[in-house]
Amino acid sequence: MKIPGISIPIIQIPLEKNIRLFMKREDLIHPEISGNKYWKLFYNIGHYLEQNPEKPFIITFGGAFSNHIAAVSALGRDLGIKTLGIIRGEELQYKWRENPTLTFAQENGMDFRFVTRAEYRNKEFLTQILEKELPDALIIPEGGTNKSAVEGVQHMLNDGTKSFDYLCTAVGTGGTVAGLSKFAEDHQKVLGFTAVNDDSLNDSVLSLSGKKNFELIGAHEGGYGKISDGNIRFINNFSAKSGIQLEPVYTGKMMKKIFELIEEDFFPENSSILAFHTGGLQGIDGANGMLKKQHRPLINVIKS
Ligand SMILES: Cc1ncc(COP(=O)(O)O)c(C=O)c1O
Repeated sequence: MKIPGISIPIIQIPLEKNIRLFMKREDLIHPEISGNKYWKLFYNIGHYLEQNPEKPFIITFGGAFSNHIAAVSALGRDLGIKTLGIIRGEELQYKWRENPTLTFAQENGMDFRFVTRAEYRNKEFLTQILEKELPDALIIPEGGTNKSAVEGVQHMLNDGTKSFDYLCTAVGTGGTVAGLSKFAEDHQKVLGFTAVNDDSLNDSVLSLSGKKNFELIGAHEGGYGKISDGNIRFINNFSAKSGIQLEPVYTGKMMKKIFELIEEDFFPENSSILAFHTGGLQGIDGANGMLKKQHRPLINVIKS
């Protein structure tokens, strides 16, 4: 993987208050390995390929709509690396073809092993078995989060991000917010908007980052992957006004919560906020499929 030569745009989102809000379009970095996924994989893959150039093999974990699974499969295709996804939910072995994320991953050459939710929760044990079975493989944890991922996230920051008072990202496994926290300027506060209801996140982010300049703010609206009608309305309004597409699991929830906090005067006057668009737009197809079955409003897909 290379550091892409493109400069990522930072777009201002107009507000009626005396606060400046911007979005860094990290999602534009790669059409399929988008946003934070690119940077979380960057050093993981780089270090591994230096040591295993001959028959590289990557194993990773994810749920049925995982952006990380989609990204790893695309990366495997592009770099000619065999990939194996350990997928949560044994029932999916009979119906994964109905799932756009898994279909995309399989078309990119990814093989799957479907495991029960109980087995998936015990990922440490699964990892031990896989290490014995395939000792030369690179095993990347769920969401790609580990120390190398945190190092990669530093590339989301540059001279153009230094002056902002707040750096905001959505949080799943915590690697991205930990990287922003570790590499932020001393005057910056990092806000992580949690897409999962997980009390252990604060400790894991702190141990990856080593700094206390971050705050986690609940944004999951009832749990990971839960999509409310309010969330859909927000995403559709936001994209119509700004021309920026959001998705319902991470960036849609983060931006909705940022707007609520602005309304509640959480941010001091004159402050500047930079929210990272961490990608994940591949998940919209799957979400709309589910919403359609439930006869609910759909997420509008715009061309940006
Ligand atoms: C679109 C999107 N935003 C945010 C996140 C959260 O990142 P992390 O797992 O590093 O907290 C993810 C997961 O990788 C994601 O796919």
